[in-house]
Amino acid sequence: MDVTRERAWQTLTEYTQSEALRRHALAVEASVGAYAQKLGEGEQFWRATALLHDFDYEIHPTLDKHPQDGAPILREQGYPEELIEAVLSHAEHLSLPRDTPLKLTLFACDELSGFIHACGLVRPDGIETLEPKSVRKKLKQPSFAAGVNRDDVFKSADELGVELDEHIAFVTAAMRPIASELGLRTQADAA
Ligand SMILES: [Fe+2]
Ligand SMILES: [Fe+2]
Repeated sequence: MDVTRERAWQTLTEYTQSEALRRHALAVEASVGAYAQKLGEGEQFWRATALLHDFDYEIHPTLDKHPQDGAPILREQGYPEELIEAVLSHAEHLSLPRDTPLKLTLFACDELSGFIHACGLVRPDGIETLEPKSVRKKLKQPSFAAGVNRDDVFKSADELGVELDEHIAFVTAAMRPIASELGLRTQADAA
């Protein structure tokens, strides 16, 4: 099959009705897609993988099922093993090796994009003027976006080989163009 972001979006929206989950997928897609461009990798393939990484979370909301029970569905739909393996590798509890740039990038963008999204929700202009400094400050407040695993944020940036501030700035910039799709306010709203 031809792996495209459109095809992946179809699969995602077939299994995921929750707006929050769709927004999470879009945020991770934007970040992973920007890294694909930067690294000269296959952008469609990377975007599709990012869109699908949590595609089964709505039907498999527990870690005894997500994402492992989603894999046969993707296989049935004709997605290649390379994509399925990358999807599976984002799950810490499966302890799979992250041995490709795509796997490392997906893991590094997953929790962080969620955290940046949370930072944007409490700011009048969303993520438009959000800087790494304020993201770092919020990372130090355990009660803020408590569901985001801080260790994963630090560890995954490290494994990707990027400096955390640069990584935060990069992911924030990647998410900015789709801020309204992510339900974030923009400068126009703040004015
Ligand atoms: Fe997940
Ligand atoms: Fe995720």
